[in-house]
Amino acid sequence: MGITGLFLISFLMVHVSVNSLLFLHDNGDSFNTAAHFMSHNILIRIMEIVLFAGLIAHTVQGLILTKQNNSKRPTKYAVSAGNATSKWYSRSMGILGSLLLMFLVIHLSHFWVETKINLYAKNDAPTNSYEEVKETFSQLWVVIVYVLGVISLGWHLLHGFSSAFQTLGLNHKKYTPIIKMLGVAFSVIVPLIFAAMPIYFFLTK
Ligand code: HEM
Repeated sequence: MGITGLFLISFLMVHVSVNSLLFLHDNGDSFNTAAHFMSHNILIRIMEIVLFAGLIAHTVQGLILTKQNNSKRPTKYAVSAGNATSKWYSRSMGILGSLLLMFLVIHLSHFWVETKINLYAKNDAPTNSYEEVKETFSQLWVVIVYVLGVISLGWHLLHGFSSAFQTLGLNHKKYTPIIKMLGVAFSVIVPLIFAAMPIYFFLTK
């Protein structure tokens, strides 16, 4: 889970950086150029397969871990230790991950499917990704789903970021507190930037 989690975190860094081009006031030119490059570059096409494999592996590992954790103690404790021994979001990684997965299915149906149809079924017909984003985020329900999706992402990362290092045994007296701090910053800043996208397009439509 540690390796696939860190790999997915690196994808998020690239995704949030490329998507931030949406905020440039250039009518989407930079964003569309980047999106076109990403959907046509052979190395990125290969990385896309690795990304989906990583996503599936991470989900399956998470489901197995959640099942194992639940079956380890079939009879629940009479009194829950609550937040005294672990945070609620650490105990809810399965639920947060499932919410994220639902968000991803909706998200891919919005953008990714269209790009692929244009690329493979319509003989490489051009995709105006910027216009797609603008149109998709003109609907309030979509904005709400995205904001809820990235809030789940933030909570999921809050536990996942530093625990990925822990799982890989990367524990160090000096560096672990720094990794924890970086994890909190990443889990707050990245979802905030993502959330700003649907909100920005909805408010400026
Ligand atoms: C909230 C703002 C977001 C916007 C505007 C956005 C936009 C896009 C667009 C336009 C694509 C299609 C790329 C293509 O043409 O193939 C895409 C793909 C994707 N997005 Fe997002 N995204 C957002 C947030 C997220 C979040 C929060 C996640 C993960 C939790 C995510 C995960 C993905 C994945 C896995 C793909 C498929 C990548 C691929 O093509 O290989 N996105 N996104």
